[in-house]
Amino acid sequence: MTIPLDVHSSVLTTDEFFRRLTELNPKRKYAAMYNSVVKGFVTDPALMLVPIDDHLVHRGDGVFEAVRLAPKGFFLMKEHLARLARSAELIGLKLPHTIEEIFEISLKLQKIAGLSSAMLRIFIGRGPGDFSPSPYSTLGSQIYIAIMEFKPLAAEKFIEGVSLMFSTVPVKPGLFAQVKSCNYLPNVLTKKESLDRGYDFAVNLTEQGFVAEGPTENILVLTAAGDLVAPKFDYTLRGTTLVRTLDLAKDLLNKTGSIGGVAVHSIGSADLSRDDLLQASELMMVGTTLEVLPVTRVESKKIGDGKGGPVARALRAELLKDLGV
Ligand SMILES: Cc1ncc(COP(=O)(O)O)c(C=O)c1O
Repeated sequence: MTIPLDVHSSVLTTDEFFRRLTELNPKRKYAAMYNSVVKGFVTDPALMLVPIDDHLVHRGDGVFEAVRLAPKGFFLMKEHLARLARSAELIGLKLPHTIEEIFEISLKLQKIAGLSSAMLRIFIGRGPGDFSPSPYSTLGSQIYIAIMEFKPLAAEKFIEGVSLMFSTVPVKPGLFAQVKSCNYLPNVLTKKESLDRGYDFAVNLTEQGFVAEGPTENILVLTAAGDLVAPKFDYTLRGTTLVRTLDLAKDLLNKTGSIGGVAVHSIGSADLSRDDLLQASELMMVGTTLEVLPVTRVESKKIGDGKGGPVARALRAELLKDLGV
């Protein structure tokens, strides 16, 4: 922010407050937001605010979803909204709107934003309360939905692939891995660890040493034996993209007998070890913003021939057809 700190400045007027916020705006390119506190839509990023006493802010007490808008519409919207409802149910959080209303609001946001390629970010907080951890002391849950342009990954990442390391941050236990809650500190620390060590991605390991997931993405492995395997959803988030990719993989295998020319033996989920990853034929990170992204190095070990492999290519191509891009 360009405004210098001035501890002697007087209490800001509302106008000055928004003038200063507007100064920050060139970096905050968000197209539109819905806020149930005011029951309305805004397009000025200066107005895209969440009350500081919403327990979402000070306790991470809330759930969220990130949905991709592609030419054919919101991708896997039904699945995202079902997971949102499930996450809320698991933490006893009442939805402030029905799933149908959330869909309606999202369509209206899309119209207001005028975007055809975007990310929709939905947050449900426990609501403005009393700064305590008690979920019973708020005015009621609230929803905040923002829409912004989608920024795709550089095309060469899908050819060259990305690097991956094993994180030292412990995996989230049981329920916490299955709820897409706004309490993502372990995920943030995992991401920080990978960036600090110069890797693109990191995956956590369970106490038993099984591979779990990345901070905001699932992993998919073509093992040395030719099986396409994802870690179990017992200790990972049930990724909408991964579930769809596995279905597309099964269809492709049934129809053509191979995936990208590779005779894959089976498709499913299982416990995977570090060695399974290190010896894999192909590795992929899978998620809403990444699609199917090949991993070509794990720690110091090259995977395959060091370039994205045919299975990752074929699965991404199927997913892109689905997305309509
Ligand atoms: C922890 C975690 N795992 C996996 C995923 C991938 O899920 P999806 O494919 O639904 O984006 C996400 C999504 O943000 C996530 O937060």
